[in-house]
Amino acid sequence: MPYLKNKNSKFITLEGIDGAGKSTQLNWLAEHLRSQGRNVLVTREPGGTPLGEMLRELLLHQSMHLETEALLMFAARREHLDKVILPALQAGNWVISDRFTDASFAYQGGGRGLDEGKLRILEKWVQQDLQPDLTLLFDVPVEISRQRLSSNSSLDRFEQEKQDFFQRVREAYLRRAAQFPDRVRVIDGRQSVDAIQTELEVIISTI
Ligand code: TYD
Repeated sequence: MPYLKNKNSKFITLEGIDGAGKSTQLNWLAEHLRSQGRNVLVTREPGGTPLGEMLRELLLHQSMHLETEALLMFAARREHLDKVILPALQAGNWVISDRFTDASFAYQGGGRGLDEGKLRILEKWVQQDLQPDLTLLFDVPVEISRQRLSSNSSLDRFEQEKQDFFQRVREAYLRRAAQFPDRVRVIDGRQSVDAIQTELEVIISTI
């Protein structure tokens, strides 16, 4: 059965390398949409369900084969779609997810070098044709993201990766943006918080 959405619903995802500033904007965006009378559900990946949060704990702290990592990301996503995202979209809500499948292409594909064809198979399997209506890609040079992370004392398995890993992740994200220009909007994360919010208001008003 195809995954159906209510026509009033919107699915928005936020992406970017660690330290790009997406978390700061996520709460603002949710409040902004709520102030316009939208019902907004905020969620995250990996995670978003009790089982997904257990998988997140493993993914962020346990070393594993890169294909195991990709499979667990998509396992968590399958659960997330079934229990949280699809019911909310079918009820006509707006869903904002802190990361989704672009992160798998960027981190497992770009960062770790997993074959994209395998990721496309998992994508099709887990989400059929469902895609976000809008993806906001917060983009910053890797040096800036590293500076922002250096103030954080407990780094997870991904955040501990070296600079060239993040460089590959960033490039993979930018390739996704070039491949899906109607869906993915690149936000320059070096701008001030206020300037980014002004830009987001404009983008949101067009979807
Ligand atoms: P993140 O969203 O950055 O959370 P926090 O802000 O709490 O650190 O952490 C999730 C990590 O998981 C991030 O480093 C990217 C990684 N990730 C993948 O590698 N693949 C995926 O498909 C997803 C959703 C996340």
